[in-house]
Amino acid sequence: MNLKVLVVGHGAREHAIAKKIVESDAELHAAMGSRNPGIAGLSKRSEIMDITDTDRYAKFGDVDVAFIGPEAALAAGVTDRLNELGVPVVGPTREASKLEWSKAYTRLFLSDHGIEGNPEYSICRTGGEIREFLDAHAEVAVKPDVLTGGKGVRITGEHLKSREEVEAYAMERIGSDGLVVLEPRLVGREFTLQAFTDGKSVSVMPLVRDYKRAFDGDRGPNTGSMGSYSREDHGLPGLSEASVRRGVSIMEHTVRELTATGEAFRGVLYGGFMETEEGVYLLEYNSRFGDPEAMNVLALLKRPLLDVGWEIIDGRLSDLGFEMKATVCVYIVPDGYPVDPKRGSEVRIKQPKSSELFFASVHEEDGAILTTGSRSVALLAKGESISEAREKVYGDVPGIEGALFHRRDIGEGV
Ligand code: GLY
Repeated sequence: MNLKVLVVGHGAREHAIAKKIVESDAELHAAMGSRNPGIAGLSKRSEIMDITDTDRYAKFGDVDVAFIGPEAALAAGVTDRLNELGVPVVGPTREASKLEWSKAYTRLFLSDHGIEGNPEYSICRTGGEIREFLDAHAEVAVKPDVLTGGKGVRITGEHLKSREEVEAYAMERIGSDGLVVLEPRLVGREFTLQAFTDGKSVSVMPLVRDYKRAFDGDRGPNTGSMGSYSREDHGLPGLSEASVRRGVSIMEHTVRELTATGEAFRGVLYGGFMETEEGVYLLEYNSRFGDPEAMNVLALLKRPLLDVGWEIIDGRLSDLGFEMKATVCVYIVPDGYPVDPKRGSEVRIKQPKSSELFFASVHEEDGAILTTGSRSVALLAKGESISEAREKVYGDVPGIEGALFHRRDIGEGV
């Protein structure tokens, strides 16, 4: 009998997870905030529901295993709830995922457990504490303590033009969250590491670079990300192997210490790092696959994701194995995204020739695919090189029509 596998979430990342799961002939069940037509089409049962409402999961007590995509569901304790129902989950508990949903907790966790990678930081609860930090540091990063969909961190010189703007934003966050984390602005090369972990070993995936800004040349507002690439050698241009090893060692140490506290992290840990002249610093942790980074790495994963999931749950994670190919992923988003996205407008899709298509935040009405307020569709292509993958994916982009735009420079010049 086929295993019943629940996938939680309705974005392109979850569509990518769902596609990998059904490769194992599993019976797919889906819990989605809105109807992703790609996931729904693969599923035996799909429920449209508030995926953070843990009471709504009683109906999934009959599934054999669950994969959780979005951080909001992890932070709400969906893993804990499913575990109570006897369902093993690939995705950390609420407590273990605190690494993502509380930036202050993560800084303190690293400090308290002697884990390297923290920059100087201040957890501020008053205007006086903010001003004291700003007197010592002309340029800072203001980090909300809570989940902000990747759009909450603001940096002097990039998003905040003056000390007054920094103070105002930091005070706004204290007003809404009770506290805010301030750190000096770090200058260097940013990179991220995604790793599967069973709470013991940490198995790193090919490195991926994503593009957060809305427009070509890294201009415009921050978005959930407009695309990403990974190279055939699984590295990133200019990034030293020593820095990658340092990042991995910070993640391994964090995982060990979490397990020692009784809160083993089982799932995907995503570390954002900065390589600087002084060393490698942890910028932040995410407790799940990146989106779009999941598409890049899952396209290369040679083994069935379901098998990897069982190894994570059983605490016997073994070698992964990824194809030595390049990938380029391009998001196609509604005009006006992210500030004033054109909602409810039709997306007309021709089947791509050389790329894989993932639905993101669209909804289907009377057979038509319509935009919502977020990214619509992602296309991903693999190639022997980045230029081959770019050629394939950009060759298919014109087949996605509507009041939409995309970046033209994903993977350019790397
Ligand atoms: N691409 C960044 C993220 O998923 O948070």
